[in-house]
Amino acid sequence: MGLNEEKLAAAVAAFTVDTDELQAAAAAFRYDIERGLEGNTESTLPLLPAYLGLPTGEEQGEYLALDFGGTNVRVLRLQLLGHGRFTTLAKAAAPLRVPGQYDYTGSSATATELFDFIAGQVDAVLDGDHQTPYRLGHTFSFPSSQKDLRDARLLHWTKEFATSGVEGAYVNAFLQEALLRRGIGNVQPTAVINDTVAVLLAAAYERGDTYIGSIYATGQNNCYLESYGGQRPAMILNMESGNFAKLLPNTYDLQLDAASEKPERQRLEKMVSGRYLGELFTLAMEDIQGRPLPSSFTSQDMAELLSDATAGAKVLQRVVGIPFSAAEAAALQLLAASILRRSARLVAAAYTGVLWHQAGSGPIVPQQIAIDGSVYEKMPLVQETLTQAMAELLEEDAGKVQLRLASGGSGLGAALAAAMCMEK
Ligand code: GLC
Repeated sequence: MGLNEEKLAAAVAAFTVDTDELQAAAAAFRYDIERGLEGNTESTLPLLPAYLGLPTGEEQGEYLALDFGGTNVRVLRLQLLGHGRFTTLAKAAAPLRVPGQYDYTGSSATATELFDFIAGQVDAVLDGDHQTPYRLGHTFSFPSSQKDLRDARLLHWTKEFATSGVEGAYVNAFLQEALLRRGIGNVQPTAVINDTVAVLLAAAYERGDTYIGSIYATGQNNCYLESYGGQRPAMILNMESGNFAKLLPNTYDLQLDAASEKPERQRLEKMVSGRYLGELFTLAMEDIQGRPLPSSFTSQDMAELLSDATAGAKVLQRVVGIPFSAAEAAALQLLAASILRRSARLVAAAYTGVLWHQAGSGPIVPQQIAIDGSVYEKMPLVQETLTQAMAELLEEDAGKVQLRLASGGSGLGAALAAAMCMEK
């Protein structure tokens, strides 16, 4: 059976964002930032205050850092050395879900089970030391509302997490109780931050001209330093930009949303992040093939298809269950590419919305945007598409803004937040 080329072309077109649409997306993003800051509920951007500004770069001392926000939970013991330097003294990591064995991310798991598991990972970096007092910074990468740096209330799960009893509750209170249940009385969770905030803190610890932090991975989200026009102390805002909902969804976006854990929420995230790219490709392939597929594509499958048509034909055969020629795989590379390009172009629009907001009626503020995450780091086409789209949007100002890969910031950022809570 040959490929239905008409359907393929229609699917590619459904994922294409032209320059006008790109400009409109960036402008709509800026609009939602500005309405959001006014407290106007028309905005789809939560803009959650982080209760932190940027680090001085001089922060020092030994801290624990917990990174909880994806399928792996990680704990580090870090020594901050000042001047943007640090060393890692111990680390532990474990998946929150092992198919067929356990799953702390699904609705059948309870908050107690989840945090007891996490407390076990904290214990692993203490080497049996239940005496030395430690402050722990917690990078908790879900939308949370805070009244201070110390604790955060989970508003709702994203990224298809569904553990029972956590939504609406304070996560560091859970963590503290779980630590005490394990006999760990010497670790004090003193700061909670979003992973985007961690990336920004870590990048700003090293160099001063960074005001936007971004995660482009399983989830996609950005934070930035809001200056409030100098009327109030500057503060980092976790935008929860994945929730942006002012873009026109295509038929696959609508299907994906309807079948997700949280329909209507995280509309932009469902168009751009690693958790969903393979699903979008699967839905488009089902449309092209005219039938449901026996299994789903992952973003890694898309990367493999894009790297080489012959290897891609094998991936297609494995997932779809029928043979594909290299020529068909080459044609389907266009579909995978259009999904990835749309993702990167929409993320560029989000960055530009922030840059335009910062600029007000003045010039673009020269800076680096710190970006961490597997999609940015590893997916084909993403980095170059992002850079091109930024150039398309910023035109002659494009040279003022550099995109910078800032990997591993979650742990360092959490330790910095723990240190910064002492400066306050
Ligand atoms: C999701 C979360 C957000 C997080 C992002 C990246 O969008 O809601 O808090 O920053 O994923 O991990």
